[in-house]
Parts: sequence; structure tokens; C-alpha cells
Amino acid sequence: MLQSADQFQAKVLWQSSRPLLAGRTYLLVAGINSVLFNVTAIKYREQEQTGEHLSAKRIDANERALINISTSEPVALANEENFTILDAQSSEPLGYGHIEFALHRATNIRWQQLTINKAARAESKQQKALCIWFTGLSGSGKSTIANLLEKRLFDKKMHTYLLDGDNLRHGLNRDLGFTEADRVENIRRVAEVARLMVDAGLVVLASFISPYSAERLMARKLFADREFIEIFVDTPLSECEKRDVKGLYAKARRGELKNFTGIDSAYEKPVQPELHLFAANQTAEECVEQIVQYLGLV
Ligand code: ADX
Repeated sequence: MLQSADQFQAKVLWQSSRPLLAGRTYLLVAGINSVLFNVTAIKYREQEQTGEHLSAKRIDANERALINISTSEPVALANEENFTILDAQSSEPLGYGHIEFALHRATNIRWQQLTINKAARAESKQQKALCIWFTGLSGSGKSTIANLLEKRLFDKKMHTYLLDGDNLRHGLNRDLGFTEADRVENIRRVAEVARLMVDAGLVVLASFISPYSAERLMARKLFADREFIEIFVDTPLSECEKRDVKGLYAKARRGELKNFTGIDSAYEKPVQPELHLFAANQTAEECVEQIVQYLGLV
């Protein structure tokens, strides 16, 4: 039966050396259909020899699993239809899957149209709602720059909100650590929060290491054109490590802190950010000046 839906249960065979992770966005290709999807749950992983169902947070190369997916738009996929899974950015093939069945949730939950919309809310604040997304290593200066920028915008009577990694990890994201799976979920949640705040008409500043390009792309896709401004706070690892304000690099080097970005956890540099700040060669104030100019606020 052909069904148009945006949530499915699917069996997958993973073939990439990078794990499949819940919360990450991939590209599904089945015949003429090509659609982005998010892994909403890993139901189980199959034990290779026995076929036993094991709970899992990640699926590695040559493992089979049952997952739930949510597509970015409704798509007609038949039960048992085969598909390939590609990297959302590079289109590199990552694995195969087949649809078990559609989960009919989309028909029960409709988007509620509200009378007062984003444009009206932003207009009443006399501003354009935006998400300014800072990415960079720990100690690169993201939060310092974001903080100074917020002050600058606030002084211009703009309604702002600053979402900061360290702070959100005390509340909304306090259940998350620094494995790849947890960072994916961290960014998924904060991107959704930023989207709500932009919908509320605010100028949102988000300051997160956000080390993976897949999640930065996922965040970008939540916003309209020109509503998401990615700023790469590019401070070399050697400089961040020299500063080591929180003493975390020293801990990571001593092996007391695992999965530390830049040491034993990857940072994928943005390829085409809206702004690339060489933050080691200039002061935080100069960086803010560059952003303000880019935003056309001078
Ligand atoms: S992210 O990778 O998921 O985007 P986030 O920006 O929320 O990270 O949090 C980063 C902050 O957590 C760092 O500024 C640092 O203070 C702290 N931290 C603690 N452990 C780690 C770690 N293993 N890797 C990176 N940052 C860490």
C-alpha cells in the first residue's frame, strides 16, 4: 500500500565507519523520492550471530537495527520499500534500509495556525527575528563575543536572548554528556529552542561548540533563508589550549576528561559560514564590530 506519511519505522543495515546516531539528519533516496530524515529513535540493534534485539544508542558499521524516522516533508513510501541512506551534506552513501510501515502520527497532530505570527511579533519589537549561531572550539571566545554582541544589540533596544552551551547543560540538557550521540541531541534541542525563540520574534544568539557539520546543517534547515547566521569563531587549538581558562584542556591531556573537542573528539570546521572570525588575531570587540557590520547595524 502506498502511503504518504512523515514518520516511518524502518530496518537498516549501516555501512559507514561513522555511527548512525539518534537525532542526526540523513538523506533518504528511494526511486524518485529524495528526502531528509531525522532518526527519532533507535528501537534496537540486532546481535549479529543470534539476531537478538539489544538496546543501543549508536549503530556501527555492518550492524542491523530497527529505527523510527521522521521525514522533513510527507513522502509516499510503500511497506517493504528499499532505500539508501546518504550523508545529508556530502551525499556519501552510508547504508541501506527498508520501510516496515508508516507511523500515522502526522495525521493526528496538525500544525496549529496562530493568528499572531513571527512577522507580527518581530514587527512589534521593530526588529527582524534572527538566529546568530556561534561555533568554535572550547575557549575560542564564542561566549565572550556573543555576550558583548548581545550587550551591543540590547543597547540598540533589540530584544535578544543568549543560549549558551555551559548554561543549558545545567538545565534543559543536564542529562547529556559529550559522546557524539549526546552532542547530536544537545544541538537538536537547542536548535529547536532557538527556532521557538525566533518564532517569538527575538534575536537569538546561540553559543555552542556544535562540532559536527551535520547538526549545524540541521539547525540551519529549521530557519528561513537569511534567518540563520553561522559565525565560525576560528581560534587555533594551540591558542585555546594556551588560554585554558577552565583548565579543561590540561585535564583532557592528562586523560582525566574523555571526548574533549580538539583532543580526542572531532571538530569539523564550517566550510561556508556567513562569517569567519579569525579570533586569535583580533580582540573580542573587533570581532563584534565585524558582526555588527555584517548585520548592517552600524
Ligand atoms: S557541544 O559540543 O555539545 O556543542 P557545548 O557547547 O554544549 O558542547 O558545551 C561545551 C562546554 O562544555 C565547553 O565550553 C566546556 O566548558 C564544557 N565541557 C566539558 N566537557 C567537555 C568535553 N568533553 N568537550 C568539550 N567541552 C566540554
